[in-house]
Amino acid sequence: MEQGFCIWLTGLSGSGKTTISQELARRLRKSRFIEIMDGDEIRKGLSSDLGFSKDDRNEHNKRVIFCSKLLARNGVIVVVALISPYRETRAYAKEQIQNTFEVFVKAPLDVCIQRDPKGLYKKALAGEIKQFTGIDDPYEEPLEADVVVETDKEAVKESVDKILAVVRERGLLSIDVLV
Ligand code: ADX
Repeated sequence: MEQGFCIWLTGLSGSGKTTISQELARRLRKSRFIEIMDGDEIRKGLSSDLGFSKDDRNEHNKRVIFCSKLLARNGVIVVVALISPYRETRAYAKEQIQNTFEVFVKAPLDVCIQRDPKGLYKKALAGEIKQFTGIDDPYEEPLEADVVVETDKEAVKESVDKILAVVRERGLLSIDVLV
């Protein structure tokens, strides 16, 4: 059985994590089992009891880490798309899940505010939503990410190619997955 691994996408809301996760899944699904753990989706189920305080975000992230660990150790490719704002929690993910790649999905805050795909920045800036990441809640940028993708400068395909190239360099992907 081929080894499982985890691509952990971290970044602000609106930075492009979901888009990249879906394109990664589309490319990888041809040859491997893959599961996406998307923050918005997980929060509808497994983490539906949790909000956005530091403790709640960390508890939510830890539940995702727990599931990802089980999947990855059974050969599944796990793509996680969570803001995951805390360095310590992301370090814990790397510790717990085998072969985890930390990918910083980077876009300037003003670009995310402009994109505002869910209209949430508008509400946060108007004070209607509290503790919104980047507005009145922290985001600790990765200091040593395995890959940095800049979604305001790169096409989606470029970002995905970069991520897959690093995974391949570590010997976890056969070349045919990359076409
Ligand atoms: S995390 O911080 O706990 O890792 P997660 O990725 O699961 O975040 O959820 C973030 C998503 O929840 C955002 O993309 C947005 O759609 C929604 N959301 C609602 N309230 C907030 C908030 N206060 N801060 C950030 N995101 C929020």
